[in-house]
Amino acid sequence: MISEKLQQARDFEARYMPFIPDSERPLFHVTGGIGWINDPNGFSLYKGEYHLFYQYHPYSIQWGPMHWGHMKSRDLIRWERLPVALAPDMSYDQNGCFSGSAVEMPDGRQLIMYTGVHRQRRADGVLEEHQTQCIAVGDGVNYEKYEGNPVLAGADIPAGNSTLDFRDPKLWQEPDGTYRAVVGNRTADGSGAVLMFKSADGFHWDFVTVVDACRNEYGRMWECPDFFPLDGKQVLIVSPQEMLALGLELHAGYGNIALLGTWENERFTREKVQSLDYGIDFYAAQTLQAADGRRIMIAWMQNWTNSNCQPRGVRIFGQMTLPRELSIRDGRLIQNPVRELENYHGHRVAYSDVLVTGETNMEGISGRVLDMTVTVRPAGGTYHAFRLNVAKDGEHVTSIRYKPEMNTIRVDRSRCGIRYDVVHVREFLVRPRNGKIKLRLVMDRNSLELFVNDGEQAASFIVYTPEDADSISFQAENGAVLLDVEKYDLEFDKEG
Ligand code: FRU
Repeated sequence: MISEKLQQARDFEARYMPFIPDSERPLFHVTGGIGWINDPNGFSLYKGEYHLFYQYHPYSIQWGPMHWGHMKSRDLIRWERLPVALAPDMSYDQNGCFSGSAVEMPDGRQLIMYTGVHRQRRADGVLEEHQTQCIAVGDGVNYEKYEGNPVLAGADIPAGNSTLDFRDPKLWQEPDGTYRAVVGNRTADGSGAVLMFKSADGFHWDFVTVVDACRNEYGRMWECPDFFPLDGKQVLIVSPQEMLALGLELHAGYGNIALLGTWENERFTREKVQSLDYGIDFYAAQTLQAADGRRIMIAWMQNWTNSNCQPRGVRIFGQMTLPRELSIRDGRLIQNPVRELENYHGHRVAYSDVLVTGETNMEGISGRVLDMTVTVRPAGGTYHAFRLNVAKDGEHVTSIRYKPEMNTIRVDRSRCGIRYDVVHVREFLVRPRNGKIKLRLVMDRNSLELFVNDGEQAASFIVYTPEDADSISFQAENGAVLLDVEKYDLEFDKEG
């Protein structure tokens, strides 16, 4: 049954979305139909297609009572919009259908698990927001909320833990057909933990264990957990709130970290922690496993702290990152754009062994929708820095600056066109190989995703720069570099 609230959201989209021209959207990054989006939800395979839902408030470009928007794709690059999937229309989710996940059930239905939010006023007048886990089942377009909702509530979590912060279930199916889910929760010490639950049928759930806990070390509350095996390791992904910076590895505020370890006898042993993305705009990452076994991750390409800093006149706000293939190399989590992107490689321009001193342009190298790889090495002597300037005109520029002496990359978007006094610079450590550094840059109108040294680091940025600022320059400071450059335009009018 389609509730009045859901119908209202679908009608609203149908009525107003046509007023938003394609030119206001990125070409291959997921956006909402209209209004606001945040976290990716329900990123999963269903009947051979990739489905992606998202936290959605169609009625304004601000966060509001959360709905689930919905898209699907055959190749993770081109997406087809589907009707809004969930609306906050039940007593247990009347204040929002928060983040969650989806799997295909053996009977062919799609099972969604999400967080239902309802506000309640305490006797002393304080308004509290209670969070429970709920189920909806559907056919890939329409979903029915389960009559037994909520399926996980206060009685299911360890004593002392809070139901005010109990959200973002990520579920999957085990090889034996049973289900598991991890859920973010706040423990008695005020910091986050990841709880694991199990179920034989997807509807009845039992607590298994606390997978890992923050203990106020990596932020406070841990949102949006994900948990999966990868290349012989077990990976726990969380989105911490209120992090303190740690060198150049973790920045303050909302972050996204990967905890690498082992999972044996229902016990996670944490071995290593790393940042998932070293840029400004990346949060709430979620993964799926593709039919060919690849682990693929997508995230909200935005940061909560500056999510109110919207350019005047935008009618859609928020977009997803490019889906990224994950692997583990030398004990690090590696991420690269999904290989399907290469099916859209169009016109190619390439140069090798270009000697650069000072600042230079290269014939045919410009654009705002592209996939470009630049390999930098010293030209004999030393150099102070190499700078790649993109989305550039007389007034605007975003620069990626590598300093060999410090092994740092510093991305500066302070002249990209965003006129708000927020963080515009990120710096992080990289590992050159034989003096070489490789920068792969994927741009899609107002975003820039950087992959360093074949995915050792990724860094995502929103750049609200006028689209005709499309110049690219290469610059050596105090010395000379040798560059190899390969640039593809990305073309979407041909079949992928
Ligand atoms: C993370 C988050 C989730 C929550 C959702 C609400 O960005 O705060 O924890 O489910 O957004 O929209």
